[in-house]
Amino acid sequence: MKISVIGSGYVGLVTGACFAKLGNDVVLVDIDAERVDMINRGEVPFYEPGLGEILKEGLAQGKIEAITDTISSVKWADVVFICVQTPTTPDGSVDITYVRAATKSVGEGLREREDTGYPVVVVKSSVVPGTTEFLVKPILEDLSGKKAGVEFGLAMNPEFLREGAAVKDFLEPDRIVIGALDEKSRNILSSLYSGFNCPLLHTNLVTVEMIKYASNAFLATKISFINEIANICESVPGLDVLEVARGIGLDHRVNPQFLNAGVGFGGSCLPKDLKALVAFVEDKGNYEPKLLKSVLEVNDFQPLRLVDLAVRVLGSLSGKRVSVLGLSFKPNTSDMREAPSIKIINRLLELEAEVVAYDPVARETARKELGDRITYAETVEECLKGADCCFIVTEWEQFKNLEPSDFKRLMKRPLIFDGRRVFNPEKFIAEKVDCYSVGLNKLSTS
Ligand code: UGA
Repeated sequence: MKISVIGSGYVGLVTGACFAKLGNDVVLVDIDAERVDMINRGEVPFYEPGLGEILKEGLAQGKIEAITDTISSVKWADVVFICVQTPTTPDGSVDITYVRAATKSVGEGLREREDTGYPVVVVKSSVVPGTTEFLVKPILEDLSGKKAGVEFGLAMNPEFLREGAAVKDFLEPDRIVIGALDEKSRNILSSLYSGFNCPLLHTNLVTVEMIKYASNAFLATKISFINEIANICESVPGLDVLEVARGIGLDHRVNPQFLNAGVGFGGSCLPKDLKALVAFVEDKGNYEPKLLKSVLEVNDFQPLRLVDLAVRVLGSLSGKRVSVLGLSFKPNTSDMREAPSIKIINRLLELEAEVVAYDPVARETARKELGDRITYAETVEECLKGADCCFIVTEWEQFKNLEPSDFKRLMKRPLIFDGRRVFNPEKFIAEKVDCYSVGLNKLSTS
């Protein structure tokens, strides 16, 4: 099929490159000409394992082209995916400025089409229930002068990609969820996804919008749940959240995934979507989403608990050199949006600590986010050198290979606050390295 993807950010680029890999012809559209040039050169503007290879492959086979002109791509395409960002406004609600603007251009493109085809417009951006039907549809109809469900199709098809595993998640999804306005759109999307070996769930527009938000809300709830259990474990002798999570996760109704306690969830999706859902429900005014608000509240405090622990162990942090290992919101990405590291570092700076941080890929992102208030180490060794304590904030594979002797050799005092359960504390403590771990009742050399 001929696929146009409006918005070549994270979701758009992954969607476009993967559809091209599956044999479709793809035009990627972005208003940022520099980004378009980069994509046409085969460069991915962010860090995502495996994406560069399939982008280059698609370009070499002539299956992908990036352009800045939405209208011409809409005139050409069988299916148009709207993949623009939906950021958060200061009150937590979803900002649909970009969706509105993209929809307008798509509407203009539909107007200029003279063929007898049946282009299907598909919203992929995360939007609150009702947006596709009551905002996107009227704009498209107004600007095109055509009727949805008669002269063009309309659907909503959210993505469930994880950063760092996006290509695999796209090509081997657990499920594909399609909400179509009409039968014809539903059939076209079914045939587009016909090669996928997973359940295809068909429902209406508003339900898929809710499925997307409810999915992220559930994942976030699972994380805040296990973090709360971890916090309880810390205060009861003999308890370790890792063992507790293992015991819970073996129940098939629960499953072991997303039960890793730590310093809280970050990223561009879980916090944003949860806030948007809460704001949406509160705006309706019929119900108070108490559970979802608590999930956010637990998450707000979770990163700071690690700093509190350091204060309890060290007394004042003023003038102490604190080594922070990991800045991205999770491994295998350079993304620092809503990363727990930001909250941790800001708090450490408030307490007048001297912060030196290392991340294998997020250094440049961090510079933009945190400026020159901290020192950026080029290597783990440089980061640990002379430090009074070390915070593990992101569980990069590289950190897992560090040995107690590395900390003893490099640090002023070998003291670790493991926010991601990267190390086996017993091993470290046996080698006289103090290692405090999230969700574990005190274990230390003293
Ligand atoms: C999340 C969802 O997992 C995807 O299904 C969804 O498509 C995506 O949002 C989106 O809406 O676009 P992502 O933000 O890439 O994906 O990251 P996750 O892997 O979900 O991790 C989110 C945060 O939770 C990270 O900070 C991670 O460290 C934390 N986390 C995750 C935990 O603290 N514990 C866990 O057990 C799992």
